[in-house]
Amino acid sequence: MEERGLKIFAPEEEEPGKDSDVFFNDEMRTNRDLSRIALKVFRDKIDVDEFRICDPLSASGVRGFRYSDLGKLYLNDTNPEAVDSIEKGLEENQIEAQVYNKDANVLLSENRNLFHFIDIDPFGPFNRFLDSTARASNHQSFVGLTATDLAAPAGSYKKTCMRRYSSKPLKNSFMHETGLRIYIKEVFQNYARFDKCFDPKICWHEQHYSRVMGRVTESKKRTNRTLDNIGYLSYCPECRWRKLEREEECGNCGEDTQIAGPLWTGKLVDRRFTKEMKEEIPEEWVDANELLRKVHGEAEILTPFYDLHKLSSSLSIQVPKREKVLESLEDRGYPVSRTHFSPTGFRTDAPLQDIRRVLKEASEE
Ligand SMILES: C[S@@+](CC[C@H](N)C(=O)[O-])C[C@H]1O[C@@H](n2cnc3c(N)ncnc32)[C@H](O)[C@@H]1O
Repeated sequence: MEERGLKIFAPEEEEPGKDSDVFFNDEMRTNRDLSRIALKVFRDKIDVDEFRICDPLSASGVRGFRYSDLGKLYLNDTNPEAVDSIEKGLEENQIEAQVYNKDANVLLSENRNLFHFIDIDPFGPFNRFLDSTARASNHQSFVGLTATDLAAPAGSYKKTCMRRYSSKPLKNSFMHETGLRIYIKEVFQNYARFDKCFDPKICWHEQHYSRVMGRVTESKKRTNRTLDNIGYLSYCPECRWRKLEREEECGNCGEDTQIAGPLWTGKLVDRRFTKEMKEEIPEEWVDANELLRKVHGEAEILTPFYDLHKLSSSLSIQVPKREKVLESLEDRGYPVSRTHFSPTGFRTDAPLQDIRRVLKEASEE
């Protein structure tokens, strides 16, 4: 198989998974495209003689291969068949790397502060690799983590979420944003234990996975300051009011709220960073471009996104055209955008009363 001109040695399967001889999922190409561009933007800012990149859960090695021109590669997998595929891929693609056949936690723990980029791409949750990842991250570095256990932080399995992330989720129309915020909180807190600050640069949700990518800086002061971004989210199931603060009473209708958290209450994206990514990304990477454009567009609006259909149904009105709603909110001076989380979603920091008024008017037109 091939990806972006690189040869990959893994069996072609309809549903690749844990039982695959060597795992390769073509559907994760957009994840790898954006990860490559994010790393390129970070790499260009760092002045080191040797930039060390670790992909400790490599499978076929495709992810590491995609980064091969950006630094020295360290690839690893516990599966011996995966190691054979990696070796073959390295040879066929004429790439150099150090290859290991160890438990990722062992490899990372043996290499304290060594890596300038670590990519954690496991089956399911990433949290079992967080401690060793934080140890192995250089004092100026970058990290990317994929999670596919979305049902837990998105509220379908509340106990699992409490057990894995010590956080209460909420199952509603923006559950995947809440889930992403729980993941970021978990990454931040794990780095904080090592006096390393994690700053999200680009975090997103797509299909069956969420991805968290950001900069790591060793600094107690910076970590202390950033702690303010760990908090709670309040949501009113009656009128769908939401706020990234803990409030027991709905700010719109006064009903009791539901609370999620602790979670990350800051931005999911650094707009200056994604602007640079937009300048780097090849035009022909269509899906990754589209996703990056959306993620960039909603970067500055903090309030969790609204679902047009759910909001309309709570008002017992016909669903108005989304463009009309966005235009009216913009005309009233509010920041608005679409959201990458949902094709029927939109983002705004406008007060709920105004959003409801705009929806009613747009629905009557
Ligand atoms: C989801 S796959 C990685 C996919 C790959 N990064 C890609 O982009 O195609 C996870 C891989 O981690 C390996 N693995 C699972 N647990 C591991 C561990 N504790 N240490 C090292 N490798 C592990 C599995 O054998 C599998 O190949």
